[in-house]
Order: sequence, then C-alpha cells, then structure tokens
Amino acid sequence: NLIMRSTQTIGVLIPNLANPFFSMFIKGIQKAAQAHQFVPIIFDANHNLELQDLYLEELIKRAANGLIIASATLDANDIDRILTRNGIPYLLFDQNDAQVGDRVWVDDYKGGQMAANYLLQSGHRRIALLIGENPTKNIQQRISGFRSVMRQYQLNLADDMIIETEMTKLGGYQAVDKLLAKAPTAVFTINDEMAVGLYRGLTERGLKIPQNLSIMGYDDIDLAQFVAPKLTTIRQPAFEMGRVATELLIERINDPRLDHQDRQLPLELIERDSVQTIS
Ligand code: RIB
Repeated sequence: NLIMRSTQTIGVLIPNLANPFFSMFIKGIQKAAQAHQFVPIIFDANHNLELQDLYLEELIKRAANGLIIASATLDANDIDRILTRNGIPYLLFDQNDAQVGDRVWVDDYKGGQMAANYLLQSGHRRIALLIGENPTKNIQQRISGFRSVMRQYQLNLADDMIIETEMTKLGGYQAVDKLLAKAPTAVFTINDEMAVGLYRGLTERGLKIPQNLSIMGYDDIDLAQFVAPKLTTIRQPAFEMGRVATELLIERINDPRLDHQDRQLPLELIERDSVQTIS
C-alpha cells in the first residue's frame, strides 16, 4: 500500500541555484538519492537568512529524513541546535571545520595555495582577490592558503587588494572599476561565477584577457570552457561532492550511531588560457 511505500526525503538547502557549481552538486545528490530510493527536496535560500529559516522549518515540519545544508548563512552551532533538537540527521557543506556532523570537503587551503603558486610562477606579483561578503569557512581557508604562498614569496596580500562583492556573475561585473583602480596584473576570483561577470566588464571597457588582466578562477563550472579565453581555474568535483554527501547522509539516516564520517575529495588545477606569463 501507499503508506508502506512512502518515499523517504532529503531536504537540500543551497545558496544559489543560478550557480552551475550547485547545479552539478544537485545532480550528484539526485544520482545518489535515486540509487537509494530517496527523493531530494531542494530549496534555494538565496543568501537570505529569513528564507533559510523558513525552509528549514518547513523541512522539519514535513519530517524530512535528513538534510544537506550548503547554505551557510546560519552559524554551524545554530543549525546543530535546531536540527539536533529535532533529531534530524544532517550534513553541513561549506562549513567544513569538522566541529559538527559528517563532512564532505576539499582542501581549500591547498586550493588557495595552488592558485597562488600558479599566478606567482607565471610572474605575477601585483595580485588582487575578488571575494564574497562574509566568506564561509571553506572560502576563508581558500584565502588563507593563497596568502600563505604570497608570504613565501615575501609578498604581503594587502587588505586593499581584497575586494568584496557578491559571489555571482553580477557581483564580478560590478566590481570591475574597483578592481581596475588597484592596477593588478592578475586577479584570483574566489569562484568562477565572479570571473564570468568580470569578463564582461573588462570586455566592455575594451580590455583584453589575459593581456591586460590575468584571471584565475575556482570551481571549474561548465561555463569556464565556454568563455573566451577559456578560464584557468581550480576544479572542485561538485557532482561527486553532492553524490558523496548524499551517500554519507543516507548511511547516517540508516544508522544514527555511526562514527563521524569524513570524506575528502581532490582538487585539480585546470590550465586554460586566462593567465598570461609575464617577466
Ligand atoms: O561557487 C560557489 C562556491 O560556493 C564554491 O566555490 C563552493 O566551494 C561554495 O563555497
């Protein structure tokens, strides 16, 4: 009968459905969910605290069997309090300091180092960063890794070379003038989406990538291969991250007493055409 066969659900909260990083992440979630007869319910919390609270509440009311929270507007400890109180297994994504819950992660500190090494080895010294406001833990790590390599080169990543904007195409687009005012030879955009917006802003000003400005991205979203020049970036396995996160969560749902689960996935530098070697 229908009740016996009622499907189990996984609630998923992500910060921005328009970012292909999260589309791939969701595809991975669906793949694993399907294999275990679970159905994901997906909400875009749109970087909005109230919306996130609302969706969290709805998911709890609807008795989701577990949650994947990639939307990090809430503090990890708040989420823990809300969900633990309701006895719902969950997995936090992007808050990867291993304080609470299971985790799927990439070594963002190393990712930041890979990006910095590549730019510095290509001869760049005056480098700017484009980051989001209130960066999540994983992105703070990315920045720290980047900074650590600059230090090895006796360079200081000055605060005024770090520009904050929204982590979207529009954010990248809107940051162009601020960025150009710093006269960098290269910029590390903390995600690829921002790089795409930057491309448009630079092109509109008659500037050429990488001749006038080198760009290094992060994520390797599908668009990275379709912009001109193709974007050099650090690849995160977003699909795999979604798949593994779901596997872990389902294991946790099936056995709440499992030991802490931790899976680290690899990063890869994808060298394309957006960084120029200078002497
Ligand atoms: O582009 C989305 C970003 O948000 C990714 O870099 C991912 O790590 C998440 O933090």
